[in-house]
Amino acid sequence: MGARSHPLIDYYAASVRAAIVEIGGERGDGSTSHFLRFAADHRLPFWSIDIAQRPSEHPSVITGTSGEDWLTHTLPTLRTQVAFAYLDNFDWPYASLGHKRWLQDQVAEYAARGVSLTRENSMQAHLNQTLLLEPHLAPDAAILFDDTWPRPSTAPGPRFDGKGATALAHLLARGWRVLDASDPAIERYDGFVLVARGRWEKRLPPPRADGWTWNARDDARDWGRAAAAAARLVPPGHTLVLAGLGKNAKRLWRYLRSTGVRAAFLDDLVERWPDLARLSDAELTASHHVLITPDSADDLHQRLRSTAAAAVFTVPEALEHDRSLARQLAAA
Ligand SMILES: C[S@@+](CC[C@H](N)C(=O)[O-])C[C@H]1O[C@@H](n2cnc3c(N)ncnc32)[C@H](O)[C@@H]1O
Repeated sequence: MGARSHPLIDYYAASVRAAIVEIGGERGDGSTSHFLRFAADHRLPFWSIDIAQRPSEHPSVITGTSGEDWLTHTLPTLRTQVAFAYLDNFDWPYASLGHKRWLQDQVAEYAARGVSLTRENSMQAHLNQTLLLEPHLAPDAAILFDDTWPRPSTAPGPRFDGKGATALAHLLARGWRVLDASDPAIERYDGFVLVARGRWEKRLPPPRADGWTWNARDDARDWGRAAAAAARLVPPGHTLVLAGLGKNAKRLWRYLRSTGVRAAFLDDLVERWPDLARLSDAELTASHHVLITPDSADDLHQRLRSTAAAAVFTVPEALEHDRSLARQLAAA
């Protein structure tokens, strides 16, 4: 829900060497259109399955069929291996959102299909789909579970919670490993866990010239693309310094973590991040490139421009730089 973890596939593009399957299609977060573009760019087969009947012009976007039905009856006939599965279907009834009208409507919608919208049933559906996928997975395979998150190490009980929790226990017991995950929490709306077996490598995706625009009010912005654009503004050996109050910078850092990009953060962030070095304004030097992540930060901009940092830039500036880079590469 609102996690937008699907852009992670761009960071693992070089490792996706067989088909992509999504269970739980487009419903506001843009996953299906993202995978359609990715599959077309990389000439890979892709199918998106959703139980809800929705108009679709694309033959590989199948609606009105459950993921379980499609995996049982259609996937075996396709004679293909699956390298990447995105499981984001049977909705998760967040405990802290139980009072929301839309969640009550969702419970009624599932009940009309004779299905009880419970956490147990959501986990079971994602486990069943994982078991049905297993015989068709490529040797190098990854599964991205949305609305799934690691629990704090101090919390008693299972290691993960959310839609994919029991499927993850199953896969990890069979030697799969966690490649990427949201930070641990008791409950989080933007949780995800990416697990894999075989060879998987995380790299910055290339710049793109197409017309995606930055909208500060859009909570489902593609931070994956913004992160790659920001990283490209920093020369090799220099450090990207994240300046902001937390949420945006954390989303962006989620994509850069483990790509080898050198990063630090300014000490006026609310929370500490154990995996990042902490700097003050006075410690900025000509090898630091400061990225401002809050959406309106004129004061911060002015303050940081008076430091010794090599450059200070915003996310829209990074994206613009990336677009012109992509145009130059295309023209060359
Ligand atoms: C959270 S939404 C998916 C959001 C989507 N990934 C996006 O980016 O907008 C969950 C979807 O799962 C679908 N769904 C629920 N149970 C399903 C099942 N058993 N098989 C396939 N789809 C299912 C619902 O119809 C709903 O569209």
